[in-house]
Amino acid sequence: MRVIVLNGVNLNILGRRDPTLYGGLSIAELESRIYEWGHQLELTVQCRQTNSEAEFIKWCHDASDNTDGMIVNPGAWTHYAWSIHDALELVVAPVVEVHLSDVDHREEWRRTSVISDLVAARFVGLGPDGYRLALEYLKEHG
Ligand code: DQA
Repeated sequence: MRVIVLNGVNLNILGRRDPTLYGGLSIAELESRIYEWGHQLELTVQCRQTNSEAEFIKWCHDASDNTDGMIVNPGAWTHYAWSIHDALELVVAPVVEVHLSDVDHREEWRRTSVISDLVAARFVGLGPDGYRLALEYLKEHG
């Protein structure tokens, strides 16, 4: 079972961002945990991160009928990028939304997710464990 994990804008600077919100792991450390969890669940995982909205959208297009599950943390794009909503609409497989921090209980503007109507599940405010739960969810429902 193939799972694509897309992390968006500013997630490359994890480890340098506020650790009380985002934890202390770098993106490389986070991805290596995701690969390890994927391996334990016998999933074929591919992780990617970009700060380019166009690139993120291209990866959604490429994955549209080419994966069995998808995990997305679009970072701040989550809150306003309808272009990402429209690209994810094409994805046939279940999509799970993950946020390290508890976006539903932070600033008002972070409480909007433009992709929430498309996703099969959301794991929010659980730190890196949100990605593990998302992988487990896809293993069960993908
Ligand atoms: C985030 C939450 C977003 O509001 C923020 O802009 C991010 C990271 C998270 O994982 O908690 O960059 O998606």
